[in-house]
Amino acid sequence: MAKVLAFPPSLLTPGAAAAPFAPALPLAALPAGAMRRVTFGDIDVLLAHTPAGIVAVDDRCPHMAAPLSVGELDGCVVACPLHSGRFDLSTGEPIQMPTTGGLRPDGEYVPTWSPPGREPKEDPPGKKAEARRITRVRRFRYYPVRISDDGVVEVAVPR
Ligand code: FES
Repeated sequence: MAKVLAFPPSLLTPGAAAAPFAPALPLAALPAGAMRRVTFGDIDVLLAHTPAGIVAVDDRCPHMAAPLSVGELDGCVVACPLHSGRFDLSTGEPIQMPTTGGLRPDGEYVPTWSPPGREPKEDPPGKKAEARRITRVRRFRYYPVRISDDGVVEVAVPR
């Protein structure tokens, strides 16, 4: 039987502890290594079947909200299709910052990516550069997941 990933309790989505579980998809539709988007109202949830278990987070990159469901899953690490950020679904932490740079969850600034041995590229001053510089890559927020006796993946999403 597939298991559910034990995420850091402090990263539970606000309101999710009191939300009812709702069916998302059959377990057979989420084999090991797969990711799927499931929509509840206006909330898009990413379901991923990692080696540590099944996990549900927003299907929005913690950087600039690109859909992670069209990215790549490698073990517990999901790679964003937009700026190459990589995020660990087992801890909620970024493990590779986006190429555009920005702020880590703890506020540390990371410059724009540049090839090894080269100085970071100068960002032309302006609103866009400022927006990139102060965009904070947050940690994931998680939704509780369970698997019903008849093999349905259920998610608790506040609505
Ligand atoms: S939107 Fe995902 S890394 Fe930028």
